[in-house]
Amino acid sequence: MKEYQFKEGFLWGGACSAVQCEGRSPEDGKQDNIWDQWYREDPGAFYQGVGPEVTSDFYHNYEQLIKMMRECGITSFRTSLQWARIISDRDGAVNRKGIGFYHRVIDALLDNGIEPILCLNHFDMPMYWMEKGGFECRETVDAFAAFARVCYGEFSGKVRRWVTFNEPVITPEQGYLYLHHYPLVQDGRRAAQVAYYIQLASSMAVEAYRQMGCSGQIGIVLNLTPTYCRDPEDERDRQAAYAADLFFNRSFLDPSVKGEYPADLVRILEENQAVPVHTEQELETIRRNTVDYLGVNYYHPRRVVHRSRPLESDTFMPDRYFEYYTPENCRMNKSRGWEIYEKGLYDIGINIRDHYGNIPWMVTENGMGVQDEEQFLNEEGMVEDSYRVEFIKDHLRRLHKAIEEGCNCFGYHMWCPFDSWSWSNAYKNRYGFIRIDINDHARPSFKRSAAWFRRVSDGNRFTD
Ligand code: BG6
Repeated sequence: MKEYQFKEGFLWGGACSAVQCEGRSPEDGKQDNIWDQWYREDPGAFYQGVGPEVTSDFYHNYEQLIKMMRECGITSFRTSLQWARIISDRDGAVNRKGIGFYHRVIDALLDNGIEPILCLNHFDMPMYWMEKGGFECRETVDAFAAFARVCYGEFSGKVRRWVTFNEPVITPEQGYLYLHHYPLVQDGRRAAQVAYYIQLASSMAVEAYRQMGCSGQIGIVLNLTPTYCRDPEDERDRQAAYAADLFFNRSFLDPSVKGEYPADLVRILEENQAVPVHTEQELETIRRNTVDYLGVNYYHPRRVVHRSRPLESDTFMPDRYFEYYTPENCRMNKSRGWEIYEKGLYDIGINIRDHYGNIPWMVTENGMGVQDEEQFLNEEGMVEDSYRVEFIKDHLRRLHKAIEEGCNCFGYHMWCPFDSWSWSNAYKNRYGFIRIDINDHARPSFKRSAAWFRRVSDGNRFTD
């Protein structure tokens, strides 16, 4: 039997996002964001027509869910602050009721011994800014920095760890390339502009944090997907993996940690007339405001091969440089359609150690979404989710090895302590230690994995 011991103070946490757990709750002055709007325009675009109004109802039920999270051994919890709940319009009017809600959540977390980690943006954009072009518009960037200042002014006395953006690459990737997120655009040049302005917004939020003399730490959460090619002996395949890594990992990793864009990424954008509108002063802001730490969301790797035929597309697409493939016999989470490859987490750690100055980092999301968990209900009405424990253990073993080899990782957060709404799959796949019965007023109950995680967290270790 092998024991995996983690260092004192290691964070055993969970993560969610505002839109995915709060519900729309328009009664307290929350304005529409892109999800509310998209759902109104086209409910059929959402899995089983279920939109973000149906959630675990964290907005009303946060006290009970926070107590239950504590029972699961959760010692830190990341959620996001909804911009459209806090700021009411383009003039920056502050909604005191929205602020009051987040104060109550933070206080409840602290009362239960759970460290709050606040994220300023998790895929949400108020409609009043989307109408102006969202992150294609320079004014939105300034407005985001102003929103960040309001949040620091209110909450930084109680909250020591902050995140500017969750998975910033998702908005350009899914919203401006692959048609999975609003505004459903397919245009590589516009995607490049959006990505650049999001990076600038993140750097300006870091700058504001320091200018205001806040005493905690500010980071960014990236969904680093280690990129592997089919044949490492084939130079064309290696180049394909290199390009995909530039587009989807290093486009935010390098400017956020090193303050510089990779020269090869800039060269590719130049070759495709896709260099975003920018100024020297903005690049200087990015250079000067690198993050204190990194958050890493890891679910699956990216597998690529060189392109066999040129991509037929009227617009510039990163896919000009690679194709995706699925290796034979790889392990899959069939519900989600994602490969399970725990070694990817180790590889991320080693990459950060060797190429990014061993900056402190934590796992900010990892987890297993499973369909039809009702089939695993036992006689007492509890979900027997041993597969979730195995999934987490597999990843923790690799994380432990990375730490033994010098990686500077200080925490592990699972997605999501309680079942939450998903952008693409609504309630199809359940991730939680806490089951939410959507058909019974979002009633929460523990799954079997909750007790296991509690023991891991209490002892700072697990055994095989
Ligand atoms: C992460 C996101 O990429 O994956 C979460 O930050 C998301 O918001 C999670 O819910 C799981 O993905 P999905 O699509 O199964 O909900």
